[in-house]
Amino acid sequence: MGRLDGKVALISGAARGQGEAEARRFVAEGARVVLGDVLEAECHAVGESLGGAARAIRLDVTREEDWARAVETATLAFGRLDVLVNNAGIVRTGALESTSLEDYRAVIDVNQVGTFLGMRAVVPAMREAGGGSIINISSNAGIEGVQGVIGYVASKWAIRGMTKTAALELGRYGIRVNSVHPGGVATPMIGSDDFDSIDQDAVWSSQPIPRVGRPEEIASLVLFLASDESSYSTGSEFVADGGGLAGSTARGVDTD
Ligand SMILES: NC(=O)c1ccc[n+]([C@@H]2O[C@H](COP(=O)([O-])OP(=O)(O)OC[C@H]3O[C@@H](n4cnc5c(N)ncnc54)[C@H](O)[C@@H]3O)[C@@H](O)[C@H]2O)c1
Repeated sequence: MGRLDGKVALISGAARGQGEAEARRFVAEGARVVLGDVLEAECHAVGESLGGAARAIRLDVTREEDWARAVETATLAFGRLDVLVNNAGIVRTGALESTSLEDYRAVIDVNQVGTFLGMRAVVPAMREAGGGSIINISSNAGIEGVQGVIGYVASKWAIRGMTKTAALELGRYGIRVNSVHPGGVATPMIGSDDFDSIDQDAVWSSQPIPRVGRPEEIASLVLFLASDESSYSTGSEFVADGGGLAGSTARGVDTD
């Protein structure tokens, strides 16, 4: 028996990285999944590899009409919609002083506005299904400040707040809404040129779990929130960051 048997999920940003890992894990656990991304070819390749349990579509999370089509795809192909993973995200790096308004707005548009549009779009179908689970992918950057990514931090803090408001409004319909806060995860996002100057080994070595995370480790947490196993959790923050947010060993007493 799968942990998501009978459930239908919509995952944004599912062409690669964490979204792809979530789609693969969900199907392995019995779900049927609609995968959406702006990387159409990659998204379709992942969808095809998952067979009849998956549908891949073009979804630009900043576009209302794309969300409407994504929800329609889920209900037409699979008859219902139970789970939304608002996973799509982008990052632009730069100091506060040198960040352009264009870059700042681009990040807010995808990460923050996209999450709002996604939540709003799925509510009618989830009400029709008698409930649901919305999982918004924030970040450790939604709980603390991170230098060099001001727009990203703003968008991820916003996701954390929107999650709680949506949970308050949607509880009456049996719809749960939670946020997930990954630390560093080995995906194309942190493999990009933007992060070339960062010594990744040094970043993770100071954490209690001294390594970068794997997309599958975040997918396990998202699976829990998508399933009925998390039936008493809503409006909450779920962290998977190797203990990075636990504190800094640099500020403590040497216990060796
Ligand atoms: N990788 C990390 O270290 C890390 C840490 C914390 C949080 N996150 C968050 O996890 C989520 C997944 O990121 P990832 O690490 O898999 O990165 P990724 O870059 O591999 O995947 C992000 C996906 O989102 C898609 N996307 C971008 N803009 C889109 C749009 N407008 N509409 C639809 N899809 C769009 C991309 O095409 C890509 O497939 C993001 O929200 C990210 O902010 C990542």
